[in-house]
Amino acid sequence: MLLLKNFTMVPAAGTPVPQAAMVLDGDTIVWTGALSELPVEHGAFPAEDLGGRLVTAGLIDCHTHVVFGGHRANEFRMRLEGASYDAIARAGGGIVSTVTATRAASAEALLADALTRVDALIAEGVTTIEIKSGYGLNIETELKMLRVARAVGQARPVDVVTSFLGAHAVPAEYADRADAYIDEVCIPALHAAHAEGLVDAVDGFCEGIAFSPDQIARVFDAAKDLGLPIKLHAEQLTDLGGARMAAQRGAMSVDHLEYLAAEDAAVLAKHGTVAVLLPGAFYTLRETQLPPVNALRDAGAKMAVASDCNPGSSPMASILLSMNMAATLFRMTPDECLSGVTAHAADALGLADRGRLAAGQRADLCVWDIGAPEELSYRIGFNPLWRRYYRGKSC
Ligand code: NIG
Ligand code: FE
Repeated sequence: MLLLKNFTMVPAAGTPVPQAAMVLDGDTIVWTGALSELPVEHGAFPAEDLGGRLVTAGLIDCHTHVVFGGHRANEFRMRLEGASYDAIARAGGGIVSTVTATRAASAEALLADALTRVDALIAEGVTTIEIKSGYGLNIETELKMLRVARAVGQARPVDVVTSFLGAHAVPAEYADRADAYIDEVCIPALHAAHAEGLVDAVDGFCEGIAFSPDQIARVFDAAKDLGLPIKLHAEQLTDLGGARMAAQRGAMSVDHLEYLAAEDAAVLAKHGTVAVLLPGAFYTLRETQLPPVNALRDAGAKMAVASDCNPGSSPMASILLSMNMAATLFRMTPDECLSGVTAHAADALGLADRGRLAAGQRADLCVWDIGAPEELSYRIGFNPLWRRYYRGKSC
């Protein structure tokens, strides 16, 4: 048992509690509230004084592609010279160029590279990270990526949740044969990865440069047969109705959403599907179409925020900068940004045991050297993390 005291508790929603206390039993929060209300039996436990700092739940980056080979700095240069993300992808660059590098890399090299990015996220208070496959696009490399993702969770004090993203792009060897790719590679790879215990959820990229809603629906059918939850990259570059389709099938989240029709916000809210907003991709691609944040808010849809860390559209290993961008570019409130990387990020991953400061929740916590919760979204580049508790241990 451990007693934490002398801090301000910042819940994912609602008013901060000054002079709070919290009791941890191993990796679980067993009591939290105002110190003045601490039950006497908890008062005798060994205590840590947090010096009046602010405490939030451990941060959750619910959408990343941190396992990949190589880089795409050349495409960055091309976009600065006027080429579009879409045009680069259609000319054989984009996701499939990272596929070539990822196929060529050893698992050891992929892990070492991924850890540099994961370490940056951990240093900002991330305690749970989602990692997608999707740069293999053949059975062997999809499995390699997912094994590396699991190895990240062994190598570092962070929980890893995996998403199988075989339907990320059509590889060169299946050019113009997307349906055959789904049947011959994507779905068999999903079965093989699931059999090895490597898949926590199934994702896809529903877009003109990737897969149609019908093709994604076939992958979702396979996920359903395996009892796996689903999520989708949708409405990033155009509106194909993918988010609506995924929500109607009970998706945990739909992600990107710049081109989501305002009326679809209600469909997300109705199905409890979290809208995961990815301002790093919006920024990097110099997108001008904003996601319909007001419509999502008015409809009561949950909004999460994530880094989307990947080599193409969001080369950003910073959850705090993601929050800043969500506020500055998307006009999300600082409170929405915080719930977006805690409670709603947990919901986007189907994790009921974390993201909120309450008895029964995991003792994943961040202690921040700041005076007001808004500072988490306001600062750019000066990281105020003072201490991180992962499963009840300071590390
Ligand atoms: O989330 N949109 C599709 N997938 C990634 C981009 C991957 C890439 O460009 O390598 C994303 O933005
Ligand atoms: Fe993504």
